[in-house]
Amino acid sequence: MKKLIFATNNSHKLQEVRELLQGIVDVVSLAEIGLTGDIPETADTLQGNALQKAQWVYERTGEDCFADDTGLEVEALHGAPGVYSARYAGEHCTYKDNVDKLLSALEGNKNRKADFRTVVCLMEDGKPRYFEGRVDGEILTECYGSEGFGYDPIFMPERFSVSFAEMPIEIKNSISHRGRAIQQLVDYLKSNHEA
Ligand code: IMP
Repeated sequence: MKKLIFATNNSHKLQEVRELLQGIVDVVSLAEIGLTGDIPETADTLQGNALQKAQWVYERTGEDCFADDTGLEVEALHGAPGVYSARYAGEHCTYKDNVDKLLSALEGNKNRKADFRTVVCLMEDGKPRYFEGRVDGEILTECYGSEGFGYDPIFMPERFSVSFAEMPIEIKNSISHRGRAIQQLVDYLKSNHEA
């Protein structure tokens, strides 16, 4: 089976992506290869950050790898926090700080429309290739559920009546931004790497 290093230090993402790529790709974590340190993400686009993360791993290992970058885009906030979703409430903030800041920013606002967008960068033989996934939904007025991470407790995908944090991982994966981007990656790998 093809081996791909996943350029993330986020254990939730690793769990989601491993579930999605089970039986298709052997997903190797940074911990497993002993690669430590902060992966840079200083670009101002999701694609730029995904490339930066994948390149960081490729330069250190010379191995095929992939990275993802995600943004939560809120219509009433003109697309914020977007590419700055991780540090919306400031450097070293927690998921809860970000959620609280977003709930405050939308307090009393009837337009709760938002989407999550993920760009995955696959680095094969040093060449980048991109895959994108998106899910539309809305921002709830308080937190629901304890699964997942980040903004999951306040994001309800369209056609559902529960937040991402109230869903089992398989259901979130089947409709999420990351799930859809990884599915594109799977389709590419299947059509280009048939044994
Ligand atoms: P990253 O730069 O791809 O790690 O994502 C930026 C931020 O978006 C993260 O720190 C999380 O707060 C949030 N995020 C990314 N993916 C998800 C998700 O699947 N659910 C909820 N929040 C997410």
